[in-house]
Amino acid sequence: MKNRISRIIKPSTGRSLVLPIDHGYFLGPTRRLEKPWKTVEPLLPYMDALMLTRGVLRASMDPKMNVPIILRVSGGTSIVGPDLSNESITTSVIEALRLNASAVSLSIFVGTSHEHQTLTNLSLLVDECEDYGIPVFAVTAVGKELEKRDSRYLSLCCRIAAEIGARAVKTYYCEGFEKVVEGCPVPVLIAGGPKMDTEMDALQTAYEAIQAGAVGVVMGRNIWQNDYPVAMIKAVRAVVHEDANPKEAIQIYNESKK
Ligand code: R5P
Repeated sequence: MKNRISRIIKPSTGRSLVLPIDHGYFLGPTRRLEKPWKTVEPLLPYMDALMLTRGVLRASMDPKMNVPIILRVSGGTSIVGPDLSNESITTSVIEALRLNASAVSLSIFVGTSHEHQTLTNLSLLVDECEDYGIPVFAVTAVGKELEKRDSRYLSLCCRIAAEIGARAVKTYYCEGFEKVVEGCPVPVLIAGGPKMDTEMDALQTAYEAIQAGAVGVVMGRNIWQNDYPVAMIKAVRAVVHEDANPKEAIQIYNESKK
């Protein structure tokens, strides 16, 4: 278990930069992720782990790539369906082992009509994964209700996920984020969310989250929807692993995109 976690959260800094490309599991062929390998290949040297579904892993990735996998194992809904929170477990633990995953991830939807279902999904997954030493990363999801992202709600979600047995939690950054981290006994990472207006906004968010105690960022659209994704991932990496501030990071971005 610890060995798998340390593949993702690097012992040298205690931090992690995860590139998620699992969006298609409910959003379909998301902009600039239409051809996943084309998106991912240039970014491989700069990420600590890649989060994706088994379908894209099998069909689009190069099996020789040497990057730890966080396998997305929940789903069963779509952006055009009635309710994004109605998720089930979509991939078995045996499949995760077969694909050599270093961890699995599953969403919980606290406060929705599928709260109970998604929390028991988490507990079942944890029970099974613990037998094989596979860490479960819980994702505190809000579906379409992005306005739900405040520290009181996210503290509740993260703590519940940890109590059920998640080894790490992915949540959103919010004002008062220290409280979210304080109340969660396992490592917390933040998601990037939809592409922000400027690079500076995304770097500032990553910086504030790290300074408030996040162990890392799981940032997708703000990296691979950028016109210069390699420059952007380098800048985010400096924030995560070198404590670069947003000004220093934007300098890295500007220099790398030349
Ligand atoms: C939901 O869990 C998504 O599929 C992504 O993994 C997550 O939102 C992180 O990606 P982004 O930084 O693009 O929000």
